[in-house]
Amino acid sequence: MTAKRVAFINEKGGTCKTTLAVNCAAWLAERKGKRVLLIDLDTQGHAGKSLGIDVRSAPITIADVLLDGSVEPSKAVLPTAVEGLDILPSNRSLFDLPERLATAHDKHTRLRSAVDSLTEKHDYDFVIFDAPPSLGVVTMSIMVATKEVIVPVALTYFALDGCAEVVQTVERVRKEHRRKDLTVSHVVPTLYRRTRMANEVLAKLSEYFEGRLAPTLGFNVKIDEAQSHGQTIWEYAPGSRGAEMIEAIAGAIFD
Ligand SMILES: Nc1ncnc2c1ncn2[C@@H]1O[C@H](COP(=O)(O)OP(=O)(O)O)[C@@H](O)[C@H]1O
Ligand SMILES: [Mg+2]
Repeated sequence: MTAKRVAFINEKGGTCKTTLAVNCAAWLAERKGKRVLLIDLDTQGHAGKSLGIDVRSAPITIADVLLDGSVEPSKAVLPTAVEGLDILPSNRSLFDLPERLATAHDKHTRLRSAVDSLTEKHDYDFVIFDAPPSLGVVTMSIMVATKEVIVPVALTYFALDGCAEVVQTVERVRKEHRRKDLTVSHVVPTLYRRTRMANEVLAKLSEYFEGRLAPTLGFNVKIDEAQSHGQTIWEYAPGSRGAEMIEAIAGAIFD
């Protein structure tokens, strides 16, 4: 069986990539009974932290897997408190990876090889990637390793720029890595507050991404609180408006 691979990407920080990656992964595991591997590729390690994992002391991280070919990827995988959800954690050790891989001819395909090996050994239904806020070597590697790209877009003035950058980079990977099957499957408007600016940006997004626009994630403090407690929204506030909105998004993306 082949695992479905989905990545949350935007070169901007604070667009809800991690929030959506973590909570959608937990939704798939808990609500849908799927086996899910979440791969954190940000130096901040927030995906692991959001799941209550002390990523600073993780013995093996994604950086070790990508930098040292002799590290068995399965050894870096940790179980989480959510049944069915595993994580391949990240922390600050990923910081100098772009520099250390600068001359490696296979720098863009190492992640894909690691994921291939993980999905051969374990029966995951989904592999979810949480991308860093940049379009450097790490994000390129994610695009080479995934099949679907989801772009969470915070509804601010520069939102459309960030979105266009991701779409262009996906086009580049489709050509340079002969990946015709790579697609931007959904754009998720996030951090919505009812202002004229947000409504204008939202209208533009729905025009550009007709048929690919997911339901909107409005501002909800429970989502932020859940992360500060190291819990998913399903654990922390399952009856909240935040949980309701993320469920609608997860349903649109994965059902
Ligand atoms: N719907 C929301 N309402 C309020 N705060 C949110 C919401 N979604 C995410 N946040 C908060 O916004 C911050 C940035 O979100 P995050 O998912 O870490 O973004 P990214 O991974 O794109 O940098 C986090 O502190 C998070 O808790
Ligand atoms: Mg993040």
